[in-house]
Amino acid sequence: RSAGIIGAPFCRGQPRDGVERGPDLIRAAGLLQKLHEQSCAVKDYGNLAFEDVADDEPVGRVKRARAVGSANRRLSEAVRAVKQDGHTSVMLGGDHSLAIGSIHGHSAAVGDLSVVWVDAHADINTPLSSDTGNIHGQPVSYLLHELHAKIPVLPNFSWIKPCVSAKDLVYIGLRDVDPAEHYILKLLGVKVFSMSEVDQLGVARVMEETCDYLSAKVKKPIHLSYDIDAIDPSVTPATGTPVSGGLTYREGLYIAEQVAQTGLLSAVDMVEVNPLRGETDQDVRSTVNMAVDLLLACFGRLREGNHSPDYRLP
Ligand code: ARG
Ligand code: MN
Ligand code: MN
Ligand code: MN
Repeated sequence: RSAGIIGAPFCRGQPRDGVERGPDLIRAAGLLQKLHEQSCAVKDYGNLAFEDVADDEPVGRVKRARAVGSANRRLSEAVRAVKQDGHTSVMLGGDHSLAIGSIHGHSAAVGDLSVVWVDAHADINTPLSSDTGNIHGQPVSYLLHELHAKIPVLPNFSWIKPCVSAKDLVYIGLRDVDPAEHYILKLLGVKVFSMSEVDQLGVARVMEETCDYLSAKVKKPIHLSYDIDAIDPSVTPATGTPVSGGLTYREGLYIAEQVAQTGLLSAVDMVEVNPLRGETDQDVRSTVNMAVDLLLACFGRLREGNHSPDYRLP
């Protein structure tokens, strides 16, 4: 297994500066070296360069549509290329609007896929249902076949083709869901393990049920879209929209370990790390370390320890 890393320093899907620093921070915390140490081959594709879009006026309530549409188009091409090179794609965000391009490009390369969306938020508002107009609260709506008729065409969004079925989507960690989003989740019968289900069942059963649910019929490649705000703000405070009552460090890691153990993990997003939202250096360090540890778990790191098959006792 090899990791193909794409940096996506992009923040226009939400109003707060700083989230574009995520890719370089996660690299600076030693991600590549640590992946290497656990004998995972790594290719770093570098950071994408996004064009500045002038006169990006709101379209209805939707903010920065042109910038978000154009950035995601580039990202989609980049993820598709990484998949065609045979790597597991690792997209370092940036805000969660980037899931549009990441999942679109992944699907363009491999076809039908499952999505595991780990987040405090459902990010399934449509452009018309969104109260904030921030596209990082909407990416899933553009990707689902079932919502296609509800999505008006935005500037620079016409290239996006829905590529995910509602039955192939599982949410874990939800605790801040807007009324319109809750309506959509119920209407489409989306599989949701909110923090209530994590409390009720425990994370082990949540992951057992997630993996059973996704592998019930054909085993599709898995796209893991991990929003760092899924984790409790006591561990990951440096993020734009923190919500209390989140996953512990251990629960968060367990989710990544179990997805990795399916052998189906084909692409990962790590988004919403924002150093400017931390109050102290320690806030930022703790948030970035969580992101790195989650990614290491995605590539097979186990807390029980690991050794390579050719290890010989000296
Ligand atoms: N539901 C809110 C909205 O639509 C918050 C979304 C937060 N999303 C995120 N990726 N952090 O704006
Ligand atoms: Mn900015
Ligand atoms: Mn979130
Ligand atoms: Mn999110």
